[in-house]
Amino acid sequence: MALRAIAATLILLLIIVMSCLGVADLVDPCCKEAGGGFQGMFVFGSSIVDNGNNNYLDTLGKANYFPYGVDFSPLGPTGRFSNGKNLADLLAQLLRIPLLPPFLDPFAATGSTILHGVNYGSGGSGILNQTGSITGKVMNLNEQISNFEEETLPKLESMLSCTRQQMLPHYLILIAAGGNDYQFNYFLSGSGSGSGSRPGGAGAGPAGLHSFTDDLISAYSHRLKRLYKLGARKFALIGVNPIGCVPVVRAANKRCRCQKDMNSAAKLFNKRLISLVDALTVQLPGSHFVVVNAYNIINDILHNPASKGFSNVKSACCELSITGILCKGSGGVCPNRSSYVFFDAQHNTEAASAIIASKAYSSFNISQVYPINLQKLSRL
Ligand SMILES: *[C@@H]1O[C@H](CO)[C@@H](O)[C@H](O)[C@H]1NC(C)=O
Ligand SMILES: *[C@@H]1O[C@H](CO)[C@@H](O)[C@H](O)[C@H]1NC(C)=O
Ligand SMILES: *[C@@H]1O[C@H](CO)[C@@H](O)[C@H](O)[C@H]1NC(C)=O
Repeated sequence: MALRAIAATLILLLIIVMSCLGVADLVDPCCKEAGGGFQGMFVFGSSIVDNGNNNYLDTLGKANYFPYGVDFSPLGPTGRFSNGKNLADLLAQLLRIPLLPPFLDPFAATGSTILHGVNYGSGGSGILNQTGSITGKVMNLNEQISNFEEETLPKLESMLSCTRQQMLPHYLILIAAGGNDYQFNYFLSGSGSGSGSRPGGAGAGPAGLHSFTDDLISAYSHRLKRLYKLGARKFALIGVNPIGCVPVVRAANKRCRCQKDMNSAAKLFNKRLISLVDALTVQLPGSHFVVVNAYNIINDILHNPASKGFSNVKSACCELSITGILCKGSGGVCPNRSSYVFFDAQHNTEAASAIIASKAYSSFNISQVYPINLQKLSRL
């Protein structure tokens, strides 16, 4: 009798354990049906998406102090280069993905928190290895992908008991990169100003710009193919903003005008990016790429701010530090952040990023999001 009771108990326990495994299967991205939205997202790129990685790096490019995060309640300053949410947060929200942990945060990016993805974005970084070194240490795009490959993927594979090739098609790869390669590399080195060229650099003028852009797009292509080889299939690439119109650049110009050469560079990059994704879509079976033309979206606001509820498109909302780029620690802020396009002299307010996010998610205008929007991408 006792033996029978023990056997019955064991069988009961087995049933309970098996039904738990059954429940776990429901959230297992390996078994997920297509078309049901994303399991999560992996974020790569610059300060447009950095959500706190630079806090852990030896760099001047940090945003982990007030007034950054003034509207990011309840956490306040987190390292996001914004008064509130950044573009990655806002896109995640539209795609129903929870806020992601920053890769370098030793407490946040552990255990099951990584099931919905990880953010590797690093302020000041670029597509090219050397971009951003003037601000100190940054994680460049190659290093970000290496961390994803060597640290995150093995953990996820053991947590989910499936391979990267099985799980990654259910995640979005979001990348916002390229602007710093122009602003803090090409133009800073003198190549873009027409006043000389850096040693071994691309040289001044339109020829230099074209050859630099070719190199940049080819480097980007390598990085994207690397991610594809790991199993990634769905990509959202944020194009370069009108970098000639950010307050720090305007401040250096007569009558606060935009810098045309920098804007031309951004437009050229975005055009080449579209040709690149057209080519990659053919070369890489099963891949889907979306380009968000942040240039066109922001440019519309700059030309017609009132229509989008903005009243200031030229200056930073916060009091600036002596660098003229980032906010001064504990400095003043404008009372109404949603009427400013720029929070500091380089980065958008949450209000401006929210417009980019909403166009990226649901616009049918291919000048804004090409060839399909993210809502459609999530349903493929
Ligand atoms: C960039 O760095 C990666 C390692 O992170 C290296 O494999 C690659 O060769 C470097 N590229 C260039 C152009 O130096
Ligand atoms: C399409 O997008 C471009 C760039 O944002 C914009 O200038 C244009 O007005 C839009 N066209 C329509 C029909 O909305
Ligand atoms: C702040 O700006 C937004 C957008 O311009 C506007 O709708 C709102 O009324 C403003 N709020 C205050 C308190 O002025």
